[in-house]
Amino acid sequence: MEKREQLYEGKAKKVYATDNPELLIVSYKDDATAFNGLKKGTISGKGVINNQMSNMLMQKLEESGVPTHFVEELSERETVVKRVSIVPLEVIVRNIAAGSFSKRYGVPEGKVFEKPTVEFSYKNDDLGDPLINDYHAIAIDIATETEIETIKEYALKVNEFLKSFWKKCGVTLVDFKLEFGKTSDGTIILADEISPDTCRLWDSKTGEKLDKDRFRRDLGGVEDAYTEVMRRAMEHK
Ligand code: TMP
Repeated sequence: MEKREQLYEGKAKKVYATDNPELLIVSYKDDATAFNGLKKGTISGKGVINNQMSNMLMQKLEESGVPTHFVEELSERETVVKRVSIVPLEVIVRNIAAGSFSKRYGVPEGKVFEKPTVEFSYKNDDLGDPLINDYHAIAIDIATETEIETIKEYALKVNEFLKSFWKKCGVTLVDFKLEFGKTSDGTIILADEISPDTCRLWDSKTGEKLDKDRFRRDLGGVEDAYTEVMRRAMEHK
């Protein structure tokens, strides 16, 4: 596997071409942003944690029937993934009210839902990632109806897996964001990452936040939270 030119630099990762047109290398940074890039910072060691945690979870998800982009971990920060075209939707699954949901609907953080919710945001920084529904996504050719159905089915499967995995770790899965991609043959697979950047994870006993909200909300102890949640994940993998 030969690493070639950088194709893209995002807020938290860089993406490189390889000598295989079907494969890319992602490199995880310690950079953190919030509020569409308005808040910037560094979470020391985050890239290593997010790379390793995401790879571990995606391998387990593959085993439980959710196809992912994961191919091979190259190093602490670098992973080979399948090349996909990203479906420009942030797919958000919630088990408990928090964040933008609580704000939008005036519901206290911590309200436990009877069943999980799925929502989409249109991935478009210029528009501020607006909430979008299935009809709108289909109307503007973001995805087909079948693709949206597949994405929802996988997202709920991921939720069931992650909920029970984090429970074993003494962590409550509040909500998370997924991104899906399409391979050259049109197959929908899970892409991007699953990490404390993209999940809300609360200590099951104390309710302490063990995720990026510590950075977003200036709660302190950001690195310690990432390290603690990683330690627990590795203990129960
Ligand atoms: P929200 O409550 O701010 O909409 O966030 C829902 C979940 O999605 C939460 O676990 C954090 C995650 N998330 C991202 O991964 N990226 C983002 O850009 C945003 C806004 C949220």
